[in-house]
Amino acid sequence: MNILVIGSGGREHALAWKLKQSVQVEKIYCAPGNGGTAAIAENVDIGADDIEALIAFAREKDIGFTVVGPEAPLVAGIVDSFEEAGLAIFGPTAAAAQLEGSKIFAKEFMHRFNIPTAAFRVFDDAGLAQSYLQSCEMPVVIKADGLAAGKGVYICKNADEASKAVDQIMNDKIFKEAGNQIVIEECLDGEEVSILAISDGEDFVILDTSQDHKRIFDDDMGPNTGGMGAYSPAPLVDDELFKKIEHQVIEPTIRGMRTEGDPFKGILYAGLMITKDGPRVLEYNVRFGDPEAQAVLPRLKNDLLELMYASYEGRLNNTALVWDKRACVCVVLSSGGYPGDYEKGFAITGIEKAEESQDIIVFQAGTKRDNNQLVTSGGRVLGVSGLGDGIELAIQTTYKAVDKIDFERSFFRRDIGAKALGHIEPARRG
Ligand code: AMP
Ligand code: GLY
Repeated sequence: MNILVIGSGGREHALAWKLKQSVQVEKIYCAPGNGGTAAIAENVDIGADDIEALIAFAREKDIGFTVVGPEAPLVAGIVDSFEEAGLAIFGPTAAAAQLEGSKIFAKEFMHRFNIPTAAFRVFDDAGLAQSYLQSCEMPVVIKADGLAAGKGVYICKNADEASKAVDQIMNDKIFKEAGNQIVIEECLDGEEVSILAISDGEDFVILDTSQDHKRIFDDDMGPNTGGMGAYSPAPLVDDELFKKIEHQVIEPTIRGMRTEGDPFKGILYAGLMITKDGPRVLEYNVRFGDPEAQAVLPRLKNDLLELMYASYEGRLNNTALVWDKRACVCVVLSSGGYPGDYEKGFAITGIEKAEESQDIIVFQAGTKRDNNQLVTSGGRVLGVSGLGDGIELAIQTTYKAVDKIDFERSFFRRDIGAKALGHIEPARRG
């Protein structure tokens, strides 16, 4: 079967890499892809949001199954359009993708189905939001309703910051219509964890846990990024907490969407805060996390195409996931200056050296081939994923590989995985 993977990040390289292991896969195309996908698939110069062109391409190349990486095309209805065109595709319809596409939809949905989340209020008027803020305890969290490329969330320490956030979103319209409405919510305290499940609309299987590192600097300092690294599994989530998350979050979400007539197919990603009162949903995403995918997929032993196809056909019932017991750590190498301005076009060396270890896979994100030389072309450049018996060994293996890779002004966090060590008995480490 010919496969089309849509997107151009490290997540899409990881998806293409994992799909390629399926015996049913003949050829993979990636639109638009990156320097990494070019080596294992054929890149196609079509943007992830150009749904019409993607449909025409899928028809022309006899694509048997399409896998969508990023959220924007899902929220824009790519699944609906492919299905209308008679093309098989993995993921939620536009209606189900509202779980990510509208924070207000997600919050009100959680409220209807008693899914634990931060207390919230919705506003479509800046003046009313500003006067409500005067009665709020600080800190408070302010979110633009629609998609804002991961930038629409403000954690406000005081009234001044909160007031400025409302102003930027609703008056200055820095996220355009995505900021027509906002959510003001309680600021939660705890540690974050990413829980991903595959659903066919009725049944679901939960993938092993992972944790992202959103801030640019060590010890979670500095501005938010798309994600500077991840590890899996997350030892913060013991069996009891895992069951709680399944029963309080994942099961009611899948049941709720079905009950309301928009069954959720695809990857349901719940970003959770583990508070002292239990898990709370911070956000839903309707696709794999990036870089969570680069830490989770190397540990998955099942055939990914088979799982995704079962979701598409509604036969996930009785599916069991099989995991490599080893831990996986993914360290993201970014361009110096990211998440602010950065330069592009620097030559990247050392990937082959890093991959000499059997436990290392280097996933590429912001890279491209320029006259046979791999060069940087984005903020997050590479994700170096390493497997090890226990998180401590996985951390060592991964950083050893990271040190072999070089490009001008490369920047990465030194503490990916460190948080996990705090949750493991020393005797179990390594
Ligand atoms: P979201 O896009 O809603 O996940 O928000 C992005 C990030 O903002 C999350 O990963 C958290 O680090 C933080 N965040 C979102 N909502 C809250 C909240 N209610 N309390 C504390 N932190 C939050
Ligand atoms: N790693 C966070 C995300 O993919 O949204």
